[in-house]
Amino acid sequence: MVRRSQILGCGSYLPERVITNDEMAELVDTSDEWITARTGIKKRHIAADGEKTSDLALHAATAALSAAGVSVDDLDMIVLATATPDETFPATATVVQAELGMTRGFAFDVQAVCSGFVYGMAVADNFLKVGQADTALVIGAETFSRILDWSDRGTCVLFGDGAGAVVLKSENGDGGPEDRGILATRLHADGRKHDMLYVDGGPSSTQSTGHLRMLGKEVFRHAVTNLSSVVLETLDEVGLASSDIDWLVPHQANKRILDSTAKKLKLSPERVIVTVQDHANTSAASVPLALDQATTDGRIKQGDLVLMEAMGGGFTWGACLARW
Ligand code: UT7
Repeated sequence: MVRRSQILGCGSYLPERVITNDEMAELVDTSDEWITARTGIKKRHIAADGEKTSDLALHAATAALSAAGVSVDDLDMIVLATATPDETFPATATVVQAELGMTRGFAFDVQAVCSGFVYGMAVADNFLKVGQADTALVIGAETFSRILDWSDRGTCVLFGDGAGAVVLKSENGDGGPEDRGILATRLHADGRKHDMLYVDGGPSSTQSTGHLRMLGKEVFRHAVTNLSSVVLETLDEVGLASSDIDWLVPHQANKRILDSTAKKLKLSPERVIVTVQDHANTSAASVPLALDQATTDGRIKQGDLVLMEAMGGGFTWGACLARW
């Protein structure tokens, strides 16, 4: 008998305001044609003035709890993945905790940028596996619009705001790959790649928030290699192959990265959940947003093998394999 973290429900939230590629072309020297061809992105949601990461997170969390049929009183922990917290401290997770009316347990943020949700799932899964918690809320929430340099066409067209969440509950399994729940997680980081994707500000360096800076081509090159290898490592850990995957739920940065990764894994495009056209890159929110979409529209069903993967600044990257 082993403890498995079952995924009981998902939820997500997107801010109301949508900015199309044509509208982006009014802000910087770009075009719908360029953005679509190079990234697959058609539009992105942008948080309203005063709408904070915790606000987005709260909507997603409430929806996930409702889908899971779990009450706030049953939650033992909240892990919130974000690189755009409301404030330097306290953790945005504790803001969400208070707004949910959760008065016990513990809550903290995880910062692994676009890999944040996968990192958060791994952290929560390990708490559940050792028995330090039974029920966890894992949230990915971002307001990247706040850290974009809106005059840099190389980055500002790529990102959007949003939030997604899942509820995990510990259940007993027999230890095999047919168990429902998280079967394996793998995390990596390589801090030497800092300069390829970072924000040029922060409390202890510039005492300001700063803006996102990226060497896009370099990130692209590393993404395909790192993502396909971490997917294979994760499958290998439980003796499965990429042909066993029912759904690949990748971090949504660029349609070309999704296509290249799927091709490297010999996965047909029909088995890849793609939302980048509608959401752009929502960093830590992209995987749970895609999960929520694919469970709501009935593609991901009970018993399916789902592989989530992501890569982001740091570099950080990782994967989470789950039987739905
Ligand atoms: O979530 C974390 C990870 N982030 C990523 O995974 C992003 C990875 N990288 C990428 O997705 C792609 O590298 C980009 C979409 C960022 C860029 O695509 P690219 O095919 O690598 O283009 P590039 O950066 O090499 O730029 C090609 C040309 C350049 O012009 P020249 O030098 O060839 O004249 C750019 O100045 O495209 C130009 N360009 C643009 N043109 C119109 C760059 N951004 C834009 C733009 N509109 N928005």
